[in-house]
Amino acid sequence: MALKQRILELLRSAGGDFVSGEQLSESLGVSRTAIWKHIRALREEGYVFEAVSHRGYRLEQEPNRLTAAALIANLSTNVLGRQLTLFDEVDSTQNVAHELVRQGAEEGTLIIAEQQTQGRGRQGRAWHSPKGKGIYMSLVLKPRIPLHFTPQLTLLVAVALCRTMSQYVGDRVGIKWPNDLLIDGRKVSGILLESRADDERLHYVVAGIGIGVNLTAEDYPPELHKVATSLRMETGVEIDRAAFICAFLAELEELYGLYHREGFAPIQALWEARSVSLGKRVTAVAATGTITGVAERIDDSGALMLRLDDGTSLPVYSGLLET
Ligand code: BTN
Repeated sequence: MALKQRILELLRSAGGDFVSGEQLSESLGVSRTAIWKHIRALREEGYVFEAVSHRGYRLEQEPNRLTAAALIANLSTNVLGRQLTLFDEVDSTQNVAHELVRQGAEEGTLIIAEQQTQGRGRQGRAWHSPKGKGIYMSLVLKPRIPLHFTPQLTLLVAVALCRTMSQYVGDRVGIKWPNDLLIDGRKVSGILLESRADDERLHYVVAGIGIGVNLTAEDYPPELHKVATSLRMETGVEIDRAAFICAFLAELEELYGLYHREGFAPIQALWEARSVSLGKRVTAVAATGTITGVAERIDDSGALMLRLDDGTSLPVYSGLLET
């Protein structure tokens, strides 16, 4: 076992009492400087210690870590998340998910990471993924739908996420076309849907979901300060990430079932009810180039319909441009 883990074990077994640096160094056969260095490293990982001279160290708080046990205990779904893999660090959970599908992963397979070194967002952007603070996960779905219905899934996932999030912040959360979740105008979550298909057949999609859960303002780089937020910043309390993930999977499984039974219409209505884009004047890239108009509704394929100034309507499939 690594020295850091052994220090933690000793402090945990003291049940909240102090353990002196001397005791730690003797039990573990290392210098007191080594103990001090590892305590410093653990603090950077989110552990909180009280250190008092002549008494030693006391473990006050452990970082909120995701464990498979906590996830399994909260899981109420039949398929989604039933196969799950938890990583400490990956480049991107999307990459891991694609690789697992190549190896035969089934529908519902979920990959979660505490940290991503190359988390990616839509339109080639990076997704800020600090350790232990957010939810970074990718879910494998294998719906039997025509290829051109794939955009509907993005909206479906956004509705499930929005419904989950409203359990924490009520109706302050809304969906910005196509799948950004905003709380009072600041982005708290994003969805990246990547699909693999040939000809007209959709093989599978990987729904990548990034959520600002327990980040504080200092966890964001300066360029995100005005535009991003987290559930913790909005509610003032630390959120149990395992409980959130399981609540989300339950919402998604319910809506996914509804979608297979009744088609896109009910999802469309739910998306529209939670949208913060409808009725607004927006700019987007359409097949014909950049267009500006009023966002009116979602069409049957999942495209956003814009009413242009000349009265015509055009569908938009990509994200909105910031204006
Ligand atoms: C966006 O809003 O641009 C989409 C962000 C999607 C981020 C998530 S985090 C988990 C998964 N892995 C990634 O590399 N990206 C997605």
